[in-house]
Amino acid sequence: ETIQVIQKELLDWYNQNQRDLPWRINKDPYRIWVSEVMLQQTRVDTVIPYYERFMKQFPTLEDLANATDEQVVKAWEGLGYYSRARNLHSAVKEVVEKYAGKVPDQPETISQLKGVGSYTTGAILSIAYNKKVPAVDGNVMRVFSRLFAIKEDIASATTRKKMEYLADSLIPDQAPGDFNQALMELGALVCTPVSPQCLFCPVQSVCHASHQGIQGELPYKKKA
Ligand code: ADE
Repeated sequence: ETIQVIQKELLDWYNQNQRDLPWRINKDPYRIWVSEVMLQQTRVDTVIPYYERFMKQFPTLEDLANATDEQVVKAWEGLGYYSRARNLHSAVKEVVEKYAGKVPDQPETISQLKGVGSYTTGAILSIAYNKKVPAVDGNVMRVFSRLFAIKEDIASATTRKKMEYLADSLIPDQAPGDFNQALMELGALVCTPVSPQCLFCPVQSVCHASHQGIQGELPYKKKA
């Protein structure tokens, strides 16, 4: 069946082709959290050196919680979108105060922390805690829009809901975190915004856009 093909092909491909990234060396929820916040508005290549410096300076959640606002903003300097850093800092302090320093592993709890939206919730729960929660970012939206030839505006909330529903129905029991990261990785390395490399795509055989030859026209974005 198509779902099983997608799951198996993507996981096999990810196991062979994933990049060595500093937030993939272990599954410490704090480390995953910091990486996902940095990656929200910043590209992987830019994030890497900042992430490594940040982790040297604040190796544990307690270290970050004990830092001053100035230290945190300073460590974030150059990454931009400083509200991300301020939200992360205050959320981490809340985790120390309310949850004894353990990053919550339930969607209802973690999503109440500052700056933790549905994407970050899914990323942390699936990658760090192996829970079956989707994590749909821009890469994943692009992959899905092509895989299922979804010709709807990807900026609309309805389309986003549809994508989350799709992600929910595709995510496997065994390796949800790897599966979510496989989708992101595919979007970054193969199913790229411009000139997608369909010849190297592990799910080309089931891709509706590729079959219709419209991969270059998707995802559709309504002009403002
Ligand atoms: N972009 C956002 N999260 C990512 C991750 N875990 N790996 C690669 N790219 C990402």
